[in-house]
Amino acid sequence: MNRRPAKTLRDLRSLLQFGRVMVTSNVCPASIRSAHSKIKNRIIFIMQRPGPHQTLIRDVLPGEIERLHDIDQICFPAYMAYSRTELLYYLGHPTAIRKVAEIAGKIVGFAIGHIEPRKRAHVITLDVEPEARRRNVGSALMKALHEEFRGRGVVLVELEVDTANEAAQRFYARLGYELGELLRGYYKARSDAYRMALLL
Ligand SMILES: CC(C)(COP(=O)(O)OP(=O)(O)OC[C@H]1O[C@@H](n2cnc3c(N)ncnc32)[C@H](O)[C@@H]1OP(=O)(O)O)[C@@H](O)C(=O)NCCC(=O)NCCS
Repeated sequence: MNRRPAKTLRDLRSLLQFGRVMVTSNVCPASIRSAHSKIKNRIIFIMQRPGPHQTLIRDVLPGEIERLHDIDQICFPAYMAYSRTELLYYLGHPTAIRKVAEIAGKIVGFAIGHIEPRKRAHVITLDVEPEARRRNVGSALMKALHEEFRGRGVVLVELEVDTANEAAQRFYARLGYELGELLRGYYKARSDAYRMALLL
Protein backbone atom coordinates (compact mmCIF):
# COMPACT_ATOMS: atom_id res chain seq x y z
CA MET A 1 0.00 0.00 0.00
CA ASN A 2 1.24 3.47 -0.86
CA ARG A 3 1.81 5.30 2.44
CA ARG A 4 3.17 8.57 1.10
CA PRO A 5 1.21 11.66 2.17
CA ALA A 6 -1.16 13.21 -0.36
CA LYS A 7 0.60 16.09 -2.05
CA THR A 8 -1.88 17.20 -4.67
CA LEU A 9 -5.63 17.64 -4.97
CA ARG A 10 -5.73 14.66 -7.37
CA ASP A 11 -3.92 12.50 -4.79
CA LEU A 12 -6.44 13.55 -2.18
CA ARG A 13 -9.44 12.83 -4.41
CA SER A 14 -8.13 9.41 -5.36
CA LEU A 15 -7.70 8.56 -1.68
CA LEU A 16 -11.23 9.63 -0.90
CA GLN A 17 -13.29 7.55 -3.27
CA PHE A 18 -15.56 6.51 -0.43
CA GLY A 19 -15.49 9.69 1.58
CA ARG A 20 -17.71 12.74 1.57
CA VAL A 21 -15.51 15.61 0.53
CA MET A 22 -16.03 19.31 0.13
CA VAL A 23 -12.99 20.97 -1.36
CA THR A 24 -12.44 24.45 -2.67
CA SER A 25 -10.48 24.92 -5.87
CA ASN A 26 -7.44 26.54 -4.26
CA VAL A 27 -6.48 24.00 -1.68
CA CYS A 28 -2.98 24.54 -0.40
CA PRO A 29 -0.58 21.66 0.34
CA ALA A 30 -0.86 22.22 4.11
CA SER A 31 -4.65 21.74 3.96
CA ILE A 32 -4.22 18.58 1.94
CA ARG A 33 -1.74 17.20 4.48
CA SER A 34 -4.10 18.02 7.32
CA ALA A 35 -7.04 16.45 5.45
CA HIS A 36 -4.95 13.37 4.75
CA SER A 37 -4.47 12.83 8.47
CA LYS A 38 -8.26 12.72 8.88
CA ILE A 39 -8.94 10.33 6.03
CA LYS A 40 -9.86 7.56 8.43
CA ASN A 41 -13.02 9.47 9.33
CA ARG A 42 -14.04 9.66 5.67
CA ILE A 43 -15.71 13.01 6.25
CA ILE A 44 -13.47 15.88 5.35
CA PHE A 45 -14.09 19.57 5.07
CA ILE A 46 -11.42 21.89 3.79
CA MET A 47 -12.39 25.49 4.21
CA GLN A 48 -10.18 28.18 2.76
CA ARG A 49 -10.24 31.91 2.42
CA PRO A 50 -11.47 32.83 -1.09
CA GLY A 51 -8.77 32.65 -3.74
CA PRO A 52 -8.29 35.29 -6.43
CA HIS A 53 -11.12 33.98 -8.63
CA GLN A 54 -13.56 33.00 -5.95
CA THR A 55 -16.45 35.05 -4.68
CA LEU A 56 -15.98 37.05 -1.52
CA ILE A 57 -19.14 38.31 0.19
CA ARG A 58 -18.65 41.26 2.54
CA ASP A 59 -20.39 44.36 3.84
CA VAL A 60 -20.56 47.47 1.67
CA LEU A 61 -17.82 49.97 2.49
CA PRO A 62 -18.14 53.77 2.45
CA GLY A 63 -17.35 55.21 -0.98
CA GLU A 64 -18.69 52.26 -2.98
CA ILE A 65 -21.98 53.91 -3.94
CA GLU A 66 -20.74 54.85 -7.46
CA ARG A 67 -19.85 51.26 -8.33
CA LEU A 68 -23.14 49.98 -6.93
CA HIS A 69 -25.05 52.63 -8.84
CA ASP A 70 -23.26 51.65 -12.07
CA ILE A 71 -24.15 47.98 -11.57
CA ASP A 72 -27.78 48.86 -10.83
CA GLN A 73 -27.99 50.91 -14.03
CA ILE A 74 -26.79 47.88 -16.02
CA CYS A 75 -29.07 45.43 -14.23
CA PHE A 76 -32.40 47.20 -14.60
CA PRO A 77 -34.19 49.23 -17.27
CA ALA A 78 -33.88 53.00 -16.74
CA TYR A 79 -37.35 53.41 -15.24
CA MET A 80 -36.63 50.72 -12.63
CA ALA A 81 -32.98 51.47 -11.77
CA TYR A 82 -32.33 53.51 -8.64
CA SER A 83 -31.03 57.06 -8.69
CA ARG A 84 -27.99 57.78 -6.46
CA THR A 85 -30.34 59.43 -3.97
CA GLU A 86 -32.61 56.39 -3.81
CA LEU A 87 -29.64 54.05 -3.48
CA LEU A 88 -28.15 56.19 -0.70
CA TYR A 89 -31.48 56.12 1.09
CA TYR A 90 -31.76 52.32 0.91
CA LEU A 91 -28.11 51.78 1.85
CA GLY A 92 -28.29 54.26 4.72
CA HIS A 93 -31.54 52.97 6.19
CA PRO A 94 -31.05 52.18 9.90
CA THR A 95 -32.08 48.54 9.49
CA ALA A 96 -30.26 47.96 6.20
CA ILE A 97 -28.13 44.91 5.55
CA ARG A 98 -25.80 45.60 2.65
CA LYS A 99 -23.60 43.00 1.02
CA VAL A 100 -21.30 43.10 -1.97
CA ALA A 101 -19.82 40.23 -3.94
CA GLU A 102 -16.22 40.63 -5.04
CA ILE A 103 -14.27 38.54 -7.52
CA ALA A 104 -10.57 39.22 -7.94
CA GLY A 105 -10.93 42.50 -6.06
CA LYS A 106 -13.77 43.77 -8.26
CA ILE A 107 -17.33 44.29 -7.06
CA VAL A 108 -19.56 42.22 -9.35
CA GLY A 109 -22.82 42.37 -7.45
CA PHE A 110 -24.63 43.53 -4.37
CA ALA A 111 -27.75 43.00 -2.31
CA ILE A 112 -29.66 45.20 0.11
CA GLY A 113 -32.21 43.97 2.64
CA HIS A 114 -34.14 45.80 5.33
CA ILE A 115 -35.32 44.35 8.63
CA GLU A 116 -38.96 45.18 9.23
CA PRO A 117 -41.24 44.96 12.27
CA ARG A 118 -42.91 41.68 13.24
CA LYS A 119 -39.99 39.40 12.36
CA ARG A 120 -40.11 40.31 8.69
CA ALA A 121 -37.47 41.42 6.23
CA HIS A 122 -37.59 42.84 2.73
CA VAL A 123 -35.13 42.32 -0.09
CA ILE A 124 -34.74 45.77 -1.60
CA THR A 125 -32.53 44.80 -4.51
CA LEU A 126 -30.21 42.13 -5.81
CA ASP A 127 -27.87 42.96 -8.68
CA VAL A 128 -25.22 40.85 -10.40
CA GLU A 129 -23.41 42.29 -13.39
CA PRO A 130 -24.04 40.27 -16.58
CA GLU A 131 -20.45 38.91 -16.91
CA ALA A 132 -20.64 37.36 -13.43
CA ARG A 133 -24.03 35.69 -13.76
CA ARG A 134 -24.71 31.95 -13.44
CA ARG A 135 -21.67 31.59 -11.18
CA ASN A 136 -23.63 31.47 -7.93
CA VAL A 137 -22.88 35.09 -7.06
CA GLY A 138 -26.57 35.94 -6.64
CA SER A 139 -27.12 32.83 -4.54
CA ALA A 140 -24.15 33.67 -2.32
CA LEU A 141 -25.46 37.21 -1.78
CA MET A 142 -28.93 35.93 -0.89
CA LYS A 143 -27.43 33.36 1.46
CA ALA A 144 -25.54 36.14 3.23
CA LEU A 145 -28.73 38.21 3.56
CA HIS A 146 -30.68 35.21 4.85
CA GLU A 147 -28.02 34.47 7.44
CA GLU A 148 -28.18 38.03 8.76
CA PHE A 149 -31.98 37.96 8.72
CA ARG A 150 -32.03 34.71 10.70
CA GLY A 151 -29.56 36.14 13.20
CA ARG A 152 -32.00 38.97 13.85
CA GLY A 153 -34.99 36.74 14.37
CA VAL A 154 -36.62 37.20 10.96
CA VAL A 155 -39.06 34.46 9.96
CA LEU A 156 -40.59 35.90 6.77
CA VAL A 157 -38.72 37.47 3.83
CA GLU A 158 -40.57 39.27 1.07
CA LEU A 159 -39.55 40.86 -2.21
CA GLU A 160 -41.04 42.09 -5.45
CA VAL A 161 -40.05 40.97 -8.90
CA ASP A 162 -41.10 42.24 -12.34
CA THR A 163 -43.70 39.91 -13.86
CA ALA A 164 -41.61 39.91 -17.04
CA ASN A 165 -38.40 38.94 -15.21
CA GLU A 166 -38.73 35.18 -15.47
CA ALA A 167 -35.01 34.63 -14.84
CA ALA A 168 -35.24 36.27 -11.41
CA GLN A 169 -38.48 34.43 -10.62
CA ARG A 170 -36.74 31.11 -11.36
CA PHE A 171 -33.73 32.20 -9.35
CA TYR A 172 -35.85 33.05 -6.30
CA ALA A 173 -38.01 29.93 -6.69
CA ARG A 174 -34.85 27.84 -6.52
CA LEU A 175 -34.07 29.49 -3.19
CA GLY A 176 -37.52 28.48 -1.91
CA TYR A 177 -39.44 31.72 -2.51
CA GLU A 178 -43.09 31.29 -3.44
CA LEU A 179 -45.02 33.44 -5.86
CA GLY A 180 -47.62 35.65 -4.19
CA GLU A 181 -49.96 38.46 -5.16
CA LEU A 182 -49.81 40.44 -8.38
CA LEU A 183 -49.02 44.13 -7.78
CA ARG A 184 -50.34 46.09 -10.74
CA GLY A 185 -48.29 49.14 -11.83
CA TYR A 186 -45.72 48.50 -9.08
CA TYR A 187 -42.79 49.87 -11.07
CA LYS A 188 -43.67 53.53 -11.61
CA ALA A 189 -46.91 52.41 -13.27
CA ARG A 190 -44.83 51.05 -16.17
CA SER A 191 -44.83 47.36 -15.25
CA ASP A 192 -46.36 44.93 -12.77
CA ALA A 193 -44.70 42.92 -10.04
CA TYR A 194 -45.25 39.68 -8.20
CA ARG A 195 -44.64 39.56 -4.51
CA MET A 196 -42.54 36.56 -3.54
CA ALA A 197 -42.07 35.26 -0.01
CA LEU A 198 -39.88 32.84 1.88
CA LEU A 199 -40.37 31.38 5.35
CA LEU A 200 -36.88 31.27 6.80
C1 LIG B 1 -31.34 37.27 -10.96
C2 LIG B 1 -29.83 37.39 -10.72
C3 LIG B 1 -29.59 38.15 -9.44
C4 LIG B 1 -29.25 35.97 -10.60
O1 LIG B 1 -27.88 36.08 -10.24
P1 LIG B 1 -26.82 34.94 -10.61
O2 LIG B 1 -25.56 35.24 -9.92
O3 LIG B 1 -26.76 34.76 -12.09
O4 LIG B 1 -27.55 33.67 -9.98
P2 LIG B 1 -26.91 32.24 -9.63
O5 LIG B 1 -25.72 31.96 -10.48
O6 LIG B 1 -26.72 32.17 -8.15
O7 LIG B 1 -28.13 31.29 -10.09
C5 LIG B 1 -28.63 30.25 -9.29
C6 LIG B 1 -29.76 29.55 -10.02
O8 LIG B 1 -30.85 30.45 -10.26
C7 LIG B 1 -31.46 30.14 -11.53
N1 LIG B 1 -31.20 31.21 -12.51
C8 LIG B 1 -30.35 32.24 -12.39
N2 LIG B 1 -30.39 33.00 -13.51
C9 LIG B 1 -31.26 32.41 -14.35
C10 LIG B 1 -31.70 32.70 -15.69
N3 LIG B 1 -31.24 33.75 -16.37
N4 LIG B 1 -32.60 31.86 -16.25
C11 LIG B 1 -33.08 30.79 -15.58
N5 LIG B 1 -32.69 30.44 -14.33
C12 LIG B 1 -31.80 31.26 -13.72
C13 LIG B 1 -30.77 28.86 -11.99
O9 LIG B 1 -31.48 27.77 -11.43
C14 LIG B 1 -29.38 29.01 -11.38
O10 LIG B 1 -28.71 27.79 -11.23
P3 LIG B 1 -27.85 27.20 -12.48
O11 LIG B 1 -26.98 28.32 -12.99
O12 LIG B 1 -27.09 26.08 -11.84
O13 LIG B 1 -28.88 26.75 -13.50
C15 LIG B 1 -29.11 38.09 -11.92
O14 LIG B 1 -29.51 37.48 -13.11
C16 LIG B 1 -29.37 39.57 -12.02
O15 LIG B 1 -28.71 40.39 -11.37
N6 LIG B 1 -30.36 39.97 -12.86
C17 LIG B 1 -30.68 41.39 -13.08
C18 LIG B 1 -31.26 42.04 -11.84
C19 LIG B 1 -32.40 41.26 -11.28
O16 LIG B 1 -33.25 40.74 -11.99
N7 LIG B 1 -32.42 41.17 -9.94
C20 LIG B 1 -33.43 40.40 -9.22
C21 LIG B 1 -34.76 41.03 -9.25
S1 LIG B 1 -35.00 42.07 -7.85
